[in-house]
Amino acid sequence: MDLLEQCKIIQFDDLGDKRGKLVVVEGNQAIPFEIKRVFYIYDSDEDVVRGQHANRESEFILINVSGKSKVRIDNGFEEVVIELNKPMMGLYIPKMIWKDMYDFSSDSVLLVLASTHYNGKEYIRNYDEYVEEIRGKEA
Ligand code: TYD
Repeated sequence: MDLLEQCKIIQFDDLGDKRGKLVVVEGNQAIPFEIKRVFYIYDSDEDVVRGQHANRESEFILINVSGKSKVRIDNGFEEVVIELNKPMMGLYIPKMIWKDMYDFSSDSVLLVLASTHYNGKEYIRNYDEYVEEIRGKEA
């Protein structure tokens, strides 16, 4: 399946007015899952690469609520790099997509909404193992 049909860039509504901006993200409405977990990544140096895993169970939304970063998504067949640079922009990542986050600006705050509670056992951290598993499924 086309990677950009699996992962979607979501433009959230701008509820801002002259007092400032307001963005709302509601589970099962603007995003296709119920939110069970929220975490955020900041103070990552520009030369750091985070992620480097795929998740068997979790779906995610990534939003750079401040600053910017890049996300490389990979479905085992193709890869795409997306720059997250607007608080109103979200990237939906379904299960079983490999992802790397890097090029963090010094003011980057990368907010992540997840469909699951944390379980380290659902992570695939070896890229060769990931590709083997995903290609086996498609075959
Ligand atoms: P890690 O998965 O390496 O972060 P990233 O994907 O951003 O590179 O997680 C770093 C540490 O935090 C690791 O010890 C696991 C822990 N952690 C939790 O306990 N709960 C969570 O929801 C997440 C994302 C990580």
